[in-house]
Amino acid sequence: MTAAAVALDHRLARALDAWLPWQRWYAGKGRPHTAVTVVQSTPFSELPDGSVGSILVLRVDFADRGAAEHYQVPVGIRASLPDPVAPYLIAALDDLVVYEATGDHELVTELLGLVAGEHARDPLGFTSFGGFADGPPLSSRPLGVEQTNTSVVVDDRYVVKFFRRLHPGVNPELELPRALAASAGRHTAALHGAVEGHLDGAPVTYAVVQSFLAGAVDGWALAQDSLHRLRTEPWSAVREFAAEAFEMGRAVATVHAELAAGLGTGLLGPAELAGLAATMARQLDESCRVVPELALHRVDLAAAFAEVARLPGGAETQRVHGDLHLGQLLRGPAGWALIDFEGEPSLPMAERAVPHSPLRDVAGMLRSFEYAADHADLLAGPSNPAATARLRIWAEQGADAFCLGYAGVAGWDPRGQDALLRAHTLHKAVYEAHYEARHRPDFLPIPLAAVRRLLAQ
Ligand SMILES: Nc1ncnc2c1ncn2[C@@H]1O[C@H](COP(=O)(O)OP(=O)(O)O)[C@@H](O)[C@H]1O
Ligand SMILES: [Mg+2]
Repeated sequence: MTAAAVALDHRLARALDAWLPWQRWYAGKGRPHTAVTVVQSTPFSELPDGSVGSILVLRVDFADRGAAEHYQVPVGIRASLPDPVAPYLIAALDDLVVYEATGDHELVTELLGLVAGEHARDPLGFTSFGGFADGPPLSSRPLGVEQTNTSVVVDDRYVVKFFRRLHPGVNPELELPRALAASAGRHTAALHGAVEGHLDGAPVTYAVVQSFLAGAVDGWALAQDSLHRLRTEPWSAVREFAAEAFEMGRAVATVHAELAAGLGTGLLGPAELAGLAATMARQLDESCRVVPELALHRVDLAAAFAEVARLPGGAETQRVHGDLHLGQLLRGPAGWALIDFEGEPSLPMAERAVPHSPLRDVAGMLRSFEYAADHADLLAGPSNPAATARLRIWAEQGADAFCLGYAGVAGWDPRGQDALLRAHTLHKAVYEAHYEARHRPDFLPIPLAAVRRLLAQ
């Protein structure tokens, strides 16, 4: 059998069936599946020794008969496994080995060549934006961090992000940075290329190529460092972190302005406000079913969300990041940059493309400052009122500085739209409580404390 044919071989499907549920990015955990089927195989490279690179799309069907899920798995197929690729083995099938192409420098080089040359491998098309450095890359390495997708760093200059779960529609991580390309893009990683195709007749984004911000520190790591120093040098830690938060606010406001210029704005009229209030109330109900502690505050939370429906219309909406927190900001050589515009990976693309008030992103950041401080407080063990007070000051100064930085660029202070910002912030805390209850119950006290605090204000 040729390496190309094995890609559709039933033995491979069986091996993928066993391998898939163990992958970090697999979203179907806890949902028994009935079948894993290779529904698309696109060979993108045939090397002289007969080995093949192919982009597979797997469909997973579930016993609950709910919607099937699709996943992308770029694979290499060779007669024997090269040493550096050993950690990426998927299956050994008689005379052939199948492994993840993301771990194979030769195959990553081939893929980047297709993007640089804007080639097509039916049904996939490769597009380049703004060109690439000359010559083949010297090195590539999977990022190796906990992530929803799989990213490969090439020559410390580019990062190729392969989306794992595929949904019909253009991924915002392609759409938004492409719209930002017209502006200088100083506060995002520049977009260099994309791999796009079709699935069930709809367009699908398979991968994007962006600038790698080498040596960048992310906002969460910076906050951890600052919170550590807070114990010994409280005032300089607070001051220095607030200065960074101010710059983060400027970066977020700049990206918001660029997104509004590139993709347009709308208005929250009475109908939209009522719709937003209803969505927040519905999600509150779902979360109260999962988190009994949240149900204790249900009436007050519902009142805060109902207030949204009574607001005078007129607040602006636009495309936003949608999942903003400290970990989504990187401080590179040119200042703070926003990354990861894909939105919530489990949602259909149409839902991710809904315009929102920019306050949604601001609320994400305000929650993140508080989360970082409360997380440090929780890890510190038995309560120490002086340390807790310092943490509160750290979070409040960070949030204030962020809003001031934002206001300096946007021309309006997010805290001016009090009720809408409060509702978005509470909505985010409810989402966190739901998430923590499911995945990290030890951290559930963090969003619950936030809910109590916000409701007391
Ligand atoms: N352009 C980039 N430059 C430098 N590091 C990056 C870049 N993009 C992502 N990273 C790093 O990789 C991590 C995961 O990236 P992210 O896009 O958030 O992945 P995912 O959406 O799959 O979870 C980030 O937290 C960051 O540390
Ligand atoms: Mg993501």
